[in-house]
Order: sequence, then C-alpha cells, then structure tokens
Amino acid sequence: MNEPFRIAIAGLGTVGRGVVKILQSQPELIRARAGRPVEITAVNARNKSADRGVDLSSYEWVGDPLALAGHDKVDCVLELIGGSDGVAKDLVEAALDNGKHVVTANKALLAHHGLELAQKAEDKGVSLNYEAAVAGGIPIIKSLREGLAANKVKGIYGILNGTCNYILTEMRETGRDFNDVLKDAQDRGYAEADPSFDVGGIDAAHKLALLTALGFGVKPNFDGLSIEGIESITADDIRFADELGYRIKLIGMARCLGGKVFQIMAPCLVPTASALGSVEGVFNAVFVEADPVDKTMAEGRGAGEGPTASAVVADVMDLARGITLPTFGVRASELKDAPWADLSDITAQHYIHLKVLDQPGVIADISAVLRDHQISIESLVQRGRDPQRAVSVVMVTHESGAKAVQDAVADIAKIPSMVDKPTVLRIEHI
Ligand code: HSE
Repeated sequence: MNEPFRIAIAGLGTVGRGVVKILQSQPELIRARAGRPVEITAVNARNKSADRGVDLSSYEWVGDPLALAGHDKVDCVLELIGGSDGVAKDLVEAALDNGKHVVTANKALLAHHGLELAQKAEDKGVSLNYEAAVAGGIPIIKSLREGLAANKVKGIYGILNGTCNYILTEMRETGRDFNDVLKDAQDRGYAEADPSFDVGGIDAAHKLALLTALGFGVKPNFDGLSIEGIESITADDIRFADELGYRIKLIGMARCLGGKVFQIMAPCLVPTASALGSVEGVFNAVFVEADPVDKTMAEGRGAGEGPTASAVVADVMDLARGITLPTFGVRASELKDAPWADLSDITAQHYIHLKVLDQPGVIADISAVLRDHQISIESLVQRGRDPQRAVSVVMVTHESGAKAVQDAVADIAKIPSMVDKPTVLRIEHI
C-alpha cells in the first residue's frame, strides 16, 4: 500500500519535536517498515512562533487543537499536550468520536479515564495507543499486550520514574540528603519546578495503573492505588539499606494474590545484586513474572525526547501497518473490576528504622509490641551511644503480614522514648 498514513500532532514540546525529527530524518526506514509512508499533515501548539529547531513550514498550522479531531486529511491524532483533563481529554474524545486513531503519551489521562476512552475507541473501530505513556522508550505495552499475550501474569514490578531513581541513586553515591539532591536535579533540569508528581509517586502510579490493567485484564484503578513517594527517605536509610545488602528503589508492584489483584507504589528495599537493584540513575525498568514465560525484564530511558518519541512513532507505525488492538489487551467490556487485595493480604520482610532515646528498656518495649503483633525479628542493630540524643535502631523482620507491621509500628511510635516518625519499608526479593 502506498497511500500515506496521515498524522496530526497536537503539542510540540520535547516529545512532539522528537516525533517530527524522527519522521523527517528517516522517512525511508519508516516507510519500508510500516509498509507505507507516514506523513505529518497538520500541527498545533500554543505558541506558533517559538523556535523548536525543526522545520514545520510544510505542515498546516492549526490554531485550535480540537480542529485536528475533525480534520479530513488526518488518519491519526497524536495527543502530546498532557494533563488528565481539559484540552487533552477533549481532543482525544473528539478524535475518537470522529473515527480517528489516537496515539498519546498521556499517562494521567489514561489512568483516570482509560476505561471510557478504550470503550469509545472500540465503539468507533479505532485504536488508542499509548506506548510512550509508560516507561518512555521501553516497549512494555507492546511486550505485555502482544509478546506476552499467551501468559498468565503473576507479578509486575517497575522502576517507573527516572527522577526518583536519579535522586535515590545520587543520595546513595554522595551521601547527600533528599532535599539537597532534589534541588540539584531541578537546577540541572532533570526534575520539574513542581516535582510533587514525580517524588510523591503520582507519575509512577499513573503508569502502574495502566500496567496493572494490561497485565491482569482489570479496569484501570488509579484511585484504589496505595501511593507513597520518596520524600521521607533519608541518607541514613540509604546507608543502612546498603550495609544490609539492599538498594532503596521506588517500586510499583502489581501482583495476583489468589483471586485478587494487589497494586502499590512505595519505596522498597531490593537486593543490591537483583535485576531491579542494579537499575541506577534516570533509568526505568519493568520486571514481569508470568506463566509460562517465567521472568523477563526490560530496562531503558523512561523520559526525554528520543526515548519518548521513539515509542510514539512505533505506535503510529503499527497503525500505518493496519495493526489495531484493544487498548488494555481485551475488549473494554471484558475488563474486570478485580477484586482488589489490600495490605492485609500481603506478607513481606520489612525494614524498620526507629530513632530512640538510648535509655534502658527501650528495646524491651519495642520487642514487646512486636511480640504482641506476632512479628519476628531477623536482625536488629543499634548505632551510636548517647543517652541525651536519639540513636538509630534498625530492624529487619522475618516475613510478616504487612498490615500487622503497620499496626505494630503505629504502636511503637507511641513509646515515650521514640523520637521522629519511624520509617517502614517492604523488602521485595524480586
Ligand atoms: N517525569 C517522569 C520521570 C517522566 O522522571 O520519569 C514522565 O513521566
């Protein structure tokens, strides 16, 4: 087929510019692999006169992004604006309503409205592709939706936010604390001016909600996700974890527990020598355990112009080839409402870091609380000796109920010699 596949791009920021660059620099490779040329016909952005370092003169400039949704020379709309609502949502809905395929990098939009949009795409016989929305350049959506389609997924574990992984890596390598490294990351342009979505785990949780839906055939459930960020991780925690043979990583986990699905975003300890323990800096990684394939892992850059645009263009090429798939791997009407598991359904070893006044009987008090909650200790170390000031007590539990550990630590926090809020992190032997 030589008929060109015609796309419109809404949003010419880092990702949009990257898409234009790929399509301009290697049209022949894309034509050969897609089986037909891919052509940009129209573009839109907020500021027409900005210098983006790419030549846009041969494309129609459309002032209103919504006009792209009904454009008669467009087969597919690329929504690269961002945001869970507003113009991005309006554009995607309108494009699907008009029978146009949509490719988006917008994890927030899909985490909040994925089910309705998937249904709309299906009703109109078009595709809603979003490879770039999860882990940037890593083809994890294709992997789960196609490559692993014959498997029953048991667990998905991901490092899904490069900013957090960079901060945690930098804290470990330099011994600096969270705020210091965050400021440095902002100065270097790695972290956003408002980094709360990144360091608070929200951005990664948007991505996890999509992976959970795809992996387990359930409706995306961002609102039901337990989310904890990395803001309270200290340089001491990172050092203690290191001494114990672990790295602290922000891990998005989705697991099948009996008939239930459990999903959580939280910092965890993973063995230093494990697959995820060795993923450092801005890199993302997704580890999938499934039957019968067993364990697979993919690692790569989760953000930036090249990796994200690579994923967007791959989605476009699939559509140009005529490949259309249900958004979450099965028809929207077949996506289940889980049932969802919660903390009381999971067990794990835990790392507990307490700051206590070093007085006689403190350890006995802590032990009594753990005994009452049926929690057994694998190891305990106390660092420092100063009756006037707080010292660190670090414990690693044996495999214990996560809810029981949470309740026990809430009780330990009430012991009078306790100083500061305890830190509790799951240990995941992935
Ligand atoms: N801000 C994200 C990150 C990339 O740091 O990985 C976009 O989701």
